[in-house]
Amino acid sequence: MSGETVDTITIRPVSSIKGEITVPGDKSISHRSIMLGAIANGVTSVKGFLRGDDNMATMAAFRAMGVVIDDDGETVRIHGNGLHGLKEPTNVIDCGNSGTTIRLLTGLLAGQSFFSVVTGDQYLRKRPMKRVVEPLSRMGAQILGREKGSLAPLAISGGSLNAIGYESPVSSAQVKSAIMLAGLYADGGTSVREPTLSRDHSERMFQLFGASLEIFKSGVTVRGGVELQAQEIIVPGDISSAAFFMVAALITPDSEILIRNVGVNPTRTGVIDILKSMGGSIQLQNEREISGEPVADLLIKSSRLKGVDICGSVVPRAIDEFPAICVAASCAEGRTTIRDARELRVKETDRIAAMASNLRRLGVIVEECDDGMDITGMERLGCGEVTSFGDHRIAMALSVASLVATDALVVSDIDCVATSFPSFFQLLEKVSRR
Ligand code: S3P
Repeated sequence: MSGETVDTITIRPVSSIKGEITVPGDKSISHRSIMLGAIANGVTSVKGFLRGDDNMATMAAFRAMGVVIDDDGETVRIHGNGLHGLKEPTNVIDCGNSGTTIRLLTGLLAGQSFFSVVTGDQYLRKRPMKRVVEPLSRMGAQILGREKGSLAPLAISGGSLNAIGYESPVSSAQVKSAIMLAGLYADGGTSVREPTLSRDHSERMFQLFGASLEIFKSGVTVRGGVELQAQEIIVPGDISSAAFFMVAALITPDSEILIRNVGVNPTRTGVIDILKSMGGSIQLQNEREISGEPVADLLIKSSRLKGVDICGSVVPRAIDEFPAICVAASCAEGRTTIRDARELRVKETDRIAAMASNLRRLGVIVEECDDGMDITGMERLGCGEVTSFGDHRIAMALSVASLVATDALVVSDIDCVATSFPSFFQLLEKVSRR
């Protein structure tokens, strides 16, 4: 593995993947720990916080609203300002590449009686915001944005919200969480229902902080006006980051890897279910609960994978792992079909188009459809040049593919990896045997 230009990496095939690793903290939980800590009473301490660009954008946003946040490199301490203690920011809040920051923040800002503007990088400014703007406007917030409130920058003038019952057309934890955060400021019980349960980290953390919450089969109700209490939080390793190493160990011969301390919340373990159904050897060991979240160590061994059909309720439970799953499918025997995954088209990039075009460059037969794709696996992936399209998970998935290519693969536009997994390439090098 060698860096060439700043933003390109050349990765050579490996003979195996071996070792024991931990991956950085969960991105979703890290975002939420800052947000709830900032509006709680008291000092919230967070260990295992992910210091990726996305989470640093959330931290900067709350500092800009008068919240004192210390970080000694081990523990992040958030000095909560209470439910009504945020200050009007003096400048536009830049959420960088982070969909979670902009959407959850918009929900929280809808409940503040001050003016704010949120925006992001060139990729974030193309992603759909109507999905949060519409329900938050129904609650009484005034939100303006480009293309009739569909795109950032968004200008928000909030305060005095009405509770609503909202049936979300998409299974999205960002939409659900934005409404839940606004619900903390509404007069009564705000409910959100979604077609299939999306990740429930907000529900779990709201309960930890003492919010008044009712969880039912297809959704959640949050009661407004209840003060939150600071907590001590330990963030588990991010299963979305672990997924790249799971696939790496499965597709390379003679491999075995132990990934310690991974979050295995059932709303996130779709990737384990899918890879196991493909014939992957993945064992959960030492299962335990930390800060209200299930955690385990994962033992993965190389396996002969076979193609499967992926659709329905497992899709939201594996939504961020499809780039890695596509690589597993490319190395599996037979055809893998992916359906009901239209949401992949509105991630950091269009992940269906991005994986299809990159895998085709490696010789894989891929057929795209509106809500998914068909991938026919092959014995050995080809080599050449591929690109991330500025999407961190595409960059990491392609780097994993290069481990089993016929020769060196050049992956370009890799700086984006820092948004969620700054140490990815060092860790990949550490476990690679050539
Ligand atoms: C996230 C929710 C998901 C996921 C994203 C993180 C969260 O997005 O893709 O990486 O922390 O709530 P959607 O809500 O758009 O599905």
